[in-house]
This record gives sequence, structure tokens and C-alpha cells, in this order.
Amino acid sequence: MNRYVVTGGAGFIGSALVRALLAEGRRVHVIDNLSTGKLDNLEDVADEITVHEYDLRDYGRIAPVIAGAYRVFHLGALPSVPKSIADPVPSHDTNINGTFNVLRAAVEGKVARVVYAASSSAYGDTEVLPKTESMTPRPKSPYALQKLVGEYYATIFSSCYGLETVSLRFFNVFGPRQDPTSVYSGVLSIFMRCVLERRSPTIYGDGEQSRDFTYVEDVAALLLKASHARGVSGKVYNAGNGNRITLNQAWQLLQQIEGVEIPALYGPPREGDVRDSQADTTAAVRDLGHSPRFTFEQGLRLTLDWYRADLARRKQAGQLEAFSRG
Ligand code: UD1
Repeated sequence: MNRYVVTGGAGFIGSALVRALLAEGRRVHVIDNLSTGKLDNLEDVADEITVHEYDLRDYGRIAPVIAGAYRVFHLGALPSVPKSIADPVPSHDTNINGTFNVLRAAVEGKVARVVYAASSSAYGDTEVLPKTESMTPRPKSPYALQKLVGEYYATIFSSCYGLETVSLRFFNVFGPRQDPTSVYSGVLSIFMRCVLERRSPTIYGDGEQSRDFTYVEDVAALLLKASHARGVSGKVYNAGNGNRITLNQAWQLLQQIEGVEIPALYGPPREGDVRDSQADTTAAVRDLGHSPRFTFEQGLRLTLDWYRADLARRKQAGQLEAFSRG
């Protein structure tokens, strides 16, 4: 039976993809060093998958897992724009050298296709919105550049070595299981934790920066589509919802849903931050059959319900501190 490999499969996006693959009856192997991913994210499917706790920088270990796979989804990375500015060496090693290792192992192991998780951060600040794939990238941080290099490598591996690759530029993905406990966590996970704990979040800048927040299940569905679409090798596509929401709007909506009034605190803008982000989804719709199912509000409500249930579960298990740490 065909084997599907998901690097970063213990992360919140990776684990959603693992579930989507299992729902299609696929055999799934996960490569994850658990630096940001967690086995908890795969708890309910642990018996159905094989997890390899390997680091992407360790070619000797990951190559045999990748060899002979039918499809590889390369989601493993060290995320976060500010983390890559504060400490660029680990993210450079993982995001560039790790990606090179995955592509090299795929060629040597005769994998038919690699789907790569690229990032909308590659665009930087553009004069025009929404952002289309033909725009010149203007990365503003080491993370954005690293993710762009991975894309270029994927395209080069397609043209030079005949490996089929498809890169999807993720646009601020959110949803259940996103870890809210670090200062580097995705902003919506932090907002949700704050609203449930009735605390003010800190917004960096004036809060009028905008993001195309994309629900994790829509991203998982697009990853599957990209893994079997025809005539797309070497190409890059936006994986966004197509809308944009400011941070002020997002915090306002969360307060409304919870029926509370908690003014946000405001701090200085974050270095390397992109001002506005919004995907033009035309190419992904046309070539991959992208069809996002969740509006921002639907995704937000589902995610908030998940955090609420998770909080209750932790309270019951006496682990509340674990949720509040960070
Ligand atoms: C960027 C990429 C995204 C990628 C992610 C990986 C862009 C447009 N997006 O996300 O595709 O997946 O990196 O890490 O570059 N913020 C606050 N308060 C907080 C935390 C964040 O105000 O407590 C603000 C940030 O300053 C930023 C926005 O929220 O303006 C979003 O931040 P974050 O969730 O970290 O994602 P990006 O850096 O936009």
C-alpha cells in the first residue's frame, strides 16, 4: 500500500493533514523532532500511524523513511518571524538545510511528489492587495527568506531532477491544537487563550495590520488536492482564504462571541512584521480546485469551542498550570 510521509506531522497543521489522510484510508508516517510539535496532537490516531522522532537536519535518519514513499508533505519547520530574527541559526538550519534534505531524500528515494509548506511571509509588503503568485517576493525576515529559499529549491528540484513538487504559501493558518503558550505563538491562539481567561492580549502596533486567517481544515484539504493535481509540478500557489481581517476586528469578534468587554493593550510594532496580507486564490482555485469551506467567523467559533473544551479537560486533569504557562 502507498505510504504517505508528513514531516512536521505532530504540529497543529501537520496533525490535521494526518487526520485528513487517514480519513482517505492512507498509510501515514510522520517525521517530527517534537521541537514545536506534540505527540498529544496525534493522541487519538496514535494506533493508526507510525511516528519517527527524527530531526530534518539528520539526513541519514530521515532518508530511509522518505525513500519509496508515494507522496511527501513537507511541513516540518521552525516557525515564527520574531523567533527567526532573535535566533536565526536554528531556523536557518531547519528551514533551509532540512528542506534540502527532504528534497534530496525524495529524489534519491524515487518519491513521485513533494508538497511543500511555503509561507505568505515571502511576499513582504506589497503595494497591491490581494497578493498574487506573480509578484516579486520581498521577504522581511530570516523566516520569510528561508521559506522562500525552500520554494526555490522545490522548483529547482522539479526542473533539474524531475521530482514533482508543489509549493503552497500558507496564509496565517489557525485552528484547534495550535499551541497558545509561547510569545511566538500564532496571534489567534493567543487571543483565544486571553478571551477564555478574561485577560487583555497585547497587540503589537495599532492593530490595524491585517491577515488572511485561514482555517486549518481548508489548508489540509488543499494539501491533499495539491498532492494529486495534474500539470502543476514546480509551481507555487497561495493557500489562503482570500479575505483579510485586522487584529482589532479579530479581537472585537472574539469579545462579542464570548459576551465580554476586555480592552486590548497596545505595544510597539514587531520587527519584521508585514502590514497587510491577503491571498489572491484565483490560481489555486483554477489549478488545484481550492474551495475553502470555512469563513473566518466559522473557523474562529470552531477553534474557540476546541480551546474551551481543552481548558475544561485540563482543569479536570489538574493540568491548568500547563495551559497558563508561557
Ligand atoms: C507569519 C506568516 C505566516 C506564517 C507564520 C509562521 C505573514 C503575513 N504571515 O505570520 O504565513 O505561517 O509567520 O510563524 O508574514 N501579534 C500581536 N500580539 C501577539 C502576537 C502577534 O499583536 O501576541 C501580531 C503580530 O505582530 C502580527 C500579527 O499579530 O502583526 C500576526 O502575528 P503571528 O500570528 O505571529 O503571524 P505572522 O508573523 O503574521
